[in-house]
Amino acid sequence: MTFSRIAGTGGYLPERVMHNKEFEKLVDTSDEWIRERTGIKRRHLAADNETTSDMGLAAARKAIDAADVAVSDIDLIIVATTTPDKVFPSTACIVQRRLKLHTIPAFDIHAACSGFIYGLDVANRFIRTGGATNALVIGSETYSRIIDWSDRGTCVLFGDGAGAMVLTAAGEPGIMSTHIHADGAFEEALHVPAGISSGYDAIRTESAFIQMKGHEVFKKAVSTMGSIAKETLSANNVDKHDIAWLIPHQANLRIIKAAAKKLDLPMDRVVVTVDEHANTSSASIPLALDVAIRDGRIKRGELLLFEAFGAGFTWGSVLVRY
Ligand code: UT7
Repeated sequence: MTFSRIAGTGGYLPERVMHNKEFEKLVDTSDEWIRERTGIKRRHLAADNETTSDMGLAAARKAIDAADVAVSDIDLIIVATTTPDKVFPSTACIVQRRLKLHTIPAFDIHAACSGFIYGLDVANRFIRTGGATNALVIGSETYSRIIDWSDRGTCVLFGDGAGAMVLTAAGEPGIMSTHIHADGAFEEALHVPAGISSGYDAIRTESAFIQMKGHEVFKKAVSTMGSIAKETLSANNVDKHDIAWLIPHQANLRIIKAAAKKLDLPMDRVVVTVDEHANTSSASIPLALDVAIRDGRIKRGELLLFEAFGAGFTWGSVLVRY
């Protein structure tokens, strides 16, 4: 039986840091409101010429180093992103070229803030069925390009960055379970209306930016993070007290605290980066995981729960023995 395990992780954040105070000049908000309602203090923003593949590649190189595998050992690349460099080819193909790899499968996954969990689900299935041995899974996002900087309900919430993981074949898990879900009935609760088939001209209008019914998303995120945890624990016959670390999607500290409470987990067992990174969508879980691995909090052998919720709606979880 083949399983997959986390061999290494990496993260990348752009140099430019934007503090809450700077929003006070752009919209009717305050540092205090943003901290209190979201937990966010600052976020990183990509430089004008910095792309999703630039950030993803930087995170990927660190993950490959940490995994102690050669670049040439990578045999699958998945990039989770909703902010690709180009309409096509995929950002995964661009990363593949820049890693000087050829012929291995490379594709993007589009599941908004749940993208990295979807990517892990797919990579895990590839490895378990013999389709790959060393999968590179990247979450990379440049949300600053799709932010409406005049909408206080959304502009303060997001940041740019990338996280990556090398998932490798192993004799025992590793990844114990993945659960992914979607419900397109909520399409318009959180979306960027402009697209390609629906009218490419809209790409330079207000339709090209994030629109969100914040409170509706908030309520659904809280209830879904609870139900996905329950589903995961029961599928694995694991008690909530066995979870060593919760690594949730980083959208709002209040959502994260509610998720921790449902698991009876004290906040010092929850990895929180939303204060420093804001919401980096599909990059948020691998970035948070990488921070906590590199600072020594997360140790080999510990049981980790990843949980995500995002536009679609999409949601999912991964339970993993690190
Ligand atoms: O990653 C995908 C998932 N995304 C999320 O999970 C985000 C989910 N939503 C949220 O995090 C929260 O709903 C927000 C942080 C966006 C908003 O917090 P809230 O407590 O749900 O506030 P609200 O939307 O109910 O708005 C309360 C008030 C409103 O004013 P009125 O209508 O009561 O006068 C908003 O206009 O807060 C106002 N408001 C702001 N005030 C100052 C909204 N954004 C801001 C702001 N600064 N930036």
